[in-house]
Amino acid sequence: MMKKIAVLTTGGDAPGMNPAIRSVVRYALHEKVEVLGISRGYWGLINDEAEWLNHRAVSGIINQGGTVLKTARCPEFKTEEGQEHSFQTLKKYAIEGMIVIGGNGSFSGAHAFVMRYDFPCVGIAASIDNDISGIDTTIGTDTAINTALSAIDNIRDTATSMERIFVVEVMGRECGFIALQVALAGGCEEVLIPERKFDLKEVCHSIVEGNIRGKVSWIVVVAEGAGRAEDIAKKITDMTGLETRAIVLGHIQRGGRPTALSRDLALNLGRAAVDCLLKGGTDRAVGMRAGKIVEVPFAQAIAKKELQVEDMYRLIRVLS
Ligand code: ADP
Ligand code: F6P
Repeated sequence: MMKKIAVLTTGGDAPGMNPAIRSVVRYALHEKVEVLGISRGYWGLINDEAEWLNHRAVSGIINQGGTVLKTARCPEFKTEEGQEHSFQTLKKYAIEGMIVIGGNGSFSGAHAFVMRYDFPCVGIAASIDNDISGIDTTIGTDTAINTALSAIDNIRDTATSMERIFVVEVMGRECGFIALQVALAGGCEEVLIPERKFDLKEVCHSIVEGNIRGKVSWIVVVAEGAGRAEDIAKKITDMTGLETRAIVLGHIQRGGRPTALSRDLALNLGRAAVDCLLKGGTDRAVGMRAGKIVEVPFAQAIAKKELQVEDMYRLIRVLS
């Protein structure tokens, strides 16, 4: 039975990482396992920045966005030397297993580490992008969607009042999940995502047709992986002669109090990750699929996520 494990948060922060840390620490302590908190993700592992976490160390963080352990992107972890330093740090503290709270890139790193050292690692999928295969959503996605939605509701007020076209860029890296969800929930007229080929001429054609019928305001949501709001807005103006405004929602989508859904997911997955490690699980992530906790091998989790977008896209267009 393991007696000492480590936990870290890595890659882009996501609202809900804190409740995930809280759950890992308190559940592990309950199971008589000590928890070493590594600061700044893989960077802290390489540079030996760590401290033991007790019950109180994770007090008062359940409702906070970001991560108290801090996070970073760390190119050194991709090198043999970086991984060797990390392994030495884990040996120094007699750590027997590690929980990695992060996204796609973080799991690629953890997978590479398991392959090299056969060191037990279990992942908790936390990233606003929802780009992990084999699970429904990652921790933080729901919060980011709600934040973006609230911004879009505000934009709607000015768009209708001043009769303008707004192009709103949302995050998601290569994944159009946030864009699709906010476009549907926000009643937006058009959504451009990387998973679906689009022709801006057709979009402009439908804007002009609508304009002839008397329609005067539009919100076009664009996923960052499908293009830049500024470029698309300019092209729409050039092709339609109508006034546009471009907005990049950016990092506000990464912060804020985690929603109930993000917290519940985090708290359940924290426990699941500890259980998985303690029963000998490794090289895999825990996540939720169709209401059940599942374990997905890292190699599968990091493969390109196939989103079923057609049906939702059609609904957005029909209802607009
Ligand atoms: P996210 O986990 O949010 O997708 P990144 O893609 O930035 O974030 O990845 C986080 C970190 O994971 C990187 O900074 C790097 O330290 C590590 N990482 C990513 N890919 C690999 C890889 N192929 N091998 C080793 N480490 C990796
Ligand atoms: O992976 C999370 C994410 O917010 C992506 O949606 C976005 O593309 C990227 O991180 C932004 O990275 P950074 O915080 O380094 O600007």
